[in-house]
Amino acid sequence: MTPDKTQVASQELNEYPIIDVSDLKKSYTSGMVKTEVLKGIGVKLNAEDIGVILGPSGSGKTTLVNIIGGIDRADSGEVTVNGINVSAMDDTRLTDYRREHIGFVFQFYNLVPNLTVGENIEVVSNLSEAALNIREVLTAVEMQDKKDRFPRELSGGEQQRVSIARAVVKNPKVLLCDEPTGALDYETSLHILRLLQLVNKQYGTTILMVTHNTAIASLANRVFKLRSGEIVEEIINQTIVPAERIEW
Ligand SMILES: Nc1ncnc2c1ncn2[C@@H]1O[C@H](COP(=O)(O)OP(=O)(O)O)[C@@H](O)[C@H]1O
Ligand SMILES: [Mg+2]
Repeated sequence: MTPDKTQVASQELNEYPIIDVSDLKKSYTSGMVKTEVLKGIGVKLNAEDIGVILGPSGSGKTTLVNIIGGIDRADSGEVTVNGINVSAMDDTRLTDYRREHIGFVFQFYNLVPNLTVGENIEVVSNLSEAALNIREVLTAVEMQDKKDRFPRELSGGEQQRVSIARAVVKNPKVLLCDEPTGALDYETSLHILRLLQLVNKQYGTTILMVTHNTAIASLANRVFKLRSGEIVEEIINQTIVPAERIEW
């Protein structure tokens, strides 16, 4: 029997991991005080894997994924995603990079309030040359019946499902999820995590997810523990737990 990808993790790193971050540094200065937020971070993730950045509030998780996704810039270090050297890009190329390669899922959904569910997704799909079918993506996140609703008419979990559909519709190589279940109750969180695993499997999307929830780390192939701007431990999970069996 061929091992199921969601059950058996890839333990070896490929020669060219899809996400390859090395010696990433970032600091903020206010007045005379310089705070080092990232102190030389290294993160590598194979294509089609799920990675989790696990760390407490303030450890630098959002800063790290924003730099990987081209929303923010590092002071030094290298970021290569899908073979593209992100660290060297000017703003225009960063915008193209984000549009072509990265899907974002945020804690607070960030849907456009005066557009319907369908329109929120359409806006993104129109910008993409490799867009997936909108109805298919809405079906994947179980929101096909609510295509004409506005975000304010949806629960938090439903809004997050729409935001996953919006991120996935352009069929990005990499999906970056910053605390995607941070504002949701337990049952709804499991549903969202199950959908992220489904997206990973169905479309081969590499997922890098940020969380402070240790239980969520068990659904990842690789876990990077972040403390005060440093990776203090990297865990390779031998087996991946399906989201419906995670408990906290
Ligand atoms: N724009 C900024 N200016 C100054 N300090 C910042 C800025 N963004 C983040 N920080 C600081 O960097 C640290 C890490 O923040 P963040 O990456 O948001 O952590 P996390 O997502 O793990 O909670 C925090 O101490 C935060 O206060
Ligand atoms: Mg954060």
